[in-house]
Amino acid sequence: MAKIDPQKLPKHIAIIMDGNGRWAKSRSLSRIKGHEEGARSVRDIVRASREIGVQWLTLYAFSEENWRRPKYEIQALWRLLKRFLQSELEEMLQNGIRFHVIGRIYKLPKDVQKSIKETIEKTSANKDMTLTLALSYGARQEIVDTVEKIATQIETGNIGSGDVTEALVAENLYTANMPDPDLLIRTSGEFRISNFLLWQIAYAEIYVTPTHWPDFRRDEYFMALEEYQRRERRFGATGDQVARKRK
Ligand code: FPP
Repeated sequence: MAKIDPQKLPKHIAIIMDGNGRWAKSRSLSRIKGHEEGARSVRDIVRASREIGVQWLTLYAFSEENWRRPKYEIQALWRLLKRFLQSELEEMLQNGIRFHVIGRIYKLPKDVQKSIKETIEKTSANKDMTLTLALSYGARQEIVDTVEKIATQIETGNIGSGDVTEALVAENLYTANMPDPDLLIRTSGEFRISNFLLWQIAYAEIYVTPTHWPDFRRDEYFMALEEYQRRERRFGATGDQVARKRK
């Protein structure tokens, strides 16, 4: 087991799960097989997160841009998601995992929305970890939706335009009540954010690995956490200030 300091665990880890297609292609398999293996990684990373005491885990499972994919691939992803929610419910309940989603969920097929709603309801009392899936999610769309909500509050006279603060914006994002991610992991080697949590990752540490998502399992996850713990987070202060604060 890796040397992870439980005192210095990131409170919130967000992951861009990339590379299912490339993983499958390199093995002459269909992209769907890549997603299926990717779902096994999801299970492993959720379990590992819970075991070490991560409180918030957010996975980018379907972006707004992913709607451009072939219909059969999109349908396969929804099928996989439904299967995942069914197969993991018991474990979520036993392990205190609360299920949550962010994104334009109303765009998902009705049966998938129903499964999501049921899983949210059944796990709502769990308190040890929150597993959030970003589905039909785009950070720019989130910001647009947030601006719209705030504009309505101003229009109806609930608040004035001078009341718009960082805190107010944060409260109106899809991620209201969630802490910002401390660590953002991206698999499959690309150094991009791909419209994921743009506001929330302002101070996140970023870890990019060439490993494709279906091969990203707990060993490498723990390595990412070790690397995170070696880094110094300064939030704009100097290294000396951070060191003094630690003493
Ligand atoms: C990126 O690989 C992955 C996705 C777009 C979907 C993520 C889905 C899963 C991990 C499987 C199911 C999820 C759950 C929650 C059960 P890609 O297809 O973009 O890979 P590529 O860039 O190599 O083509």
